[in-house]
This record gives sequence, structure tokens and C-alpha cells, in this order.
Amino acid sequence: MAEPIIVGVDGSPAATAAVAWAADDAARKGKPLRLVHAVHRPPYGSRPYPIPGLDDALSRAGGQFLREAEEIVRERHPLLDVSARLLEGAPARMLLREAEGASELVVGSRGRGGFAGMLLGSVSGGLPGHTAVPVVVVRPGRTAADATEVVVGVDESEGCEPALGYAFEQALLRRGRLRAVYGWRPPPEIYTGYFVYDPEEARQLRQVLDVGRIAAWRARFPEVRAEVEVVCDHPVSALVDVAASAAVLVVGSRGRSGIAAMVLGSVSRGVLHHAHCPVAVVSS
Ligand SMILES: Nc1ncnc2c1ncn2[C@@H]1O[C@H](COP(=O)(O)OP(=O)(O)OP(=O)(O)O)[C@@H](O)[C@H]1O
Ligand SMILES: [Mg+2]
Repeated sequence: MAEPIIVGVDGSPAATAAVAWAADDAARKGKPLRLVHAVHRPPYGSRPYPIPGLDDALSRAGGQFLREAEEIVRERHPLLDVSARLLEGAPARMLLREAEGASELVVGSRGRGGFAGMLLGSVSGGLPGHTAVPVVVVRPGRTAADATEVVVGVDESEGCEPALGYAFEQALLRRGRLRAVYGWRPPPEIYTGYFVYDPEEARQLRQVLDVGRIAAWRARFPEVRAEVEVVCDHPVSALVDVAASAAVLVVGSRGRSGIAAMVLGSVSRGVLHHAHCPVAVVSS
């Protein structure tokens, strides 16, 4: 059986947007879709007072989230192979377990918890970089379902190769163009006057490098129209701006710099917080 696409469901607007995105992606890829809700029961004794019937109510609410999600899927794609699982345990841990043997893990940017100004919840923030499968984080109400453009962040590192593979496949399936974006700006030391720095030269050099990186993928996906764009801006701002109305913004989990122990690079983390469109983080 084809590896399923897993989507985390908690009845929130963002999770509902994630369900729609995942269902469309499953239909495009011809993969089964699995809806997952994890009932997280606080450990015994952690509540200051007992709430009669709470455990039962949590399971019933979870079942309702799954049924509502399934309805959304059936409405969009009546023939899609869709299943639902009600599990017990910490949501992030359960979703990572479900992702083993899956092809993709999709969640909303926020859930039913958190506070008003929060951009990423603990589940959506805790998954990218922690699994080998691509993790897609979807923000509610911002992306047109018929968007076709795919944006991918590139740097000189090998680390972005898996992201490029994912992005080319998305562009092919959506028949959309692919914009490979390199965000770059001179280091702050340039303003001290000790350096002579020709931004134009550096820009050209990077563009040549980037074309070199994209060329092999272009040969593998000749149907995809792929362009490299060098933007003189911080990589996070560059990617967020270019991808404002993209179907998906794709980044690697780690970049060229960064601290070895960190599972997520600063650019990946930054776009997860600030992008308006769905963000796919692909581990290298
Ligand atoms: N219990 C759960 N079971 C399955 N998926 C979940 C569960 N809770 C959250 N998710 C998924 O994770 C996404 C983000 O929710 P998350 O819990 O991270 O944010 P939050 O509720 O706003 O904040 P927090 O719970 O950290 O206070 C949801 O849109 C949903 O896709
Ligand atoms: Mg939550």
C-alpha cells in the first residue's frame, strides 16, 4: 500500500485548513490520507480537583473532530482513501510515531490551545526537524486552494537537495512554476568602511552557483519551469515576501551555517513563524 499522508486534527481552524491541504495533496499524489487525533490525558493527580467524566468527554470530542475532518475530506475528494485514528498520548509524540512509514505529516500552525498572539503551537513547532518525512505547517485562511506557484529556499549547501526534490515534485503535480530563492545581504561589517565589497559581483557569483544547483533538478523535471532568484534581503524576509501567495514554501531543516546540535536552522524556524502560506520543512 502507498505510504499515507498523516494529518493532525484537533478541531481548530488551522487544523481544518491542514486537513483541506493534506486531502488535496493526497488526491494529487494518489496516496491514502490518515486523520489522527491524540487524546492527551494529563497524568493522574496533575489536576487540582477531579472533573467527573473528563476522560470520556475527551475521547468523544476527539471522535467528533475526526468525523468533522472526514466530512471535509469527502466533500473535497469523494473517492479518496481516507481513514481516521483516535490515539492516546502526547500529540507531538503520537504524530511522530504515525509519521514512521508515512510519506508526509501535515498540521495546522496553531491549535485549540495557546494564546491569541501566538504564531506556532507546541505541536506544530515541535515536529519539523524531528522526523525524516516532510512536515507541512498550514496557516488558516490565507492560501487559495488553486494556488500553483511553489517557492523553495536555496543556499550553497547540500542540505537543500531534499527540499529541492520535494519542491520540484510539488511544482510538477500542480503544473505550477518553481521559484528557487536565495536571500542574501552584505554582512553588517560592510558599513564600517574597512571593506571594499562589490555586492553586484557577489550576487552574480551566487547566481551562477544557484543555477548550477538547480540545473540537475531541471534535467530530471523538464516539465517544470524553474527560476532562480537572488534577493538582497534577509533570507526569512526574502522567502516570506516571494511566497506571499504561493501554494507552498519549501525549506530544508538545516542550512549551511548553524549549530550542529540544532535540529532546525534559523531560516526554517523564521519562515515557520512568519510565512502566510503553507510551509514544508524537508529534513536533510
Ligand atoms: N491532540 C492533537 N491530536 C492531533 N493533532 C493535534 C493535536 N493537537 C494539535 N494538533 C495539530 O497541531 C496543530 C497545532 O496545534 P498546537 O497544539 O501546536 O497549537 P496550540 O493548540 O495553539 O498551542 P499549544 O497546544 O501548544 O498551547 C493543530 O492545528 C493540529 O494540526
Ligand atoms: Mg494544542
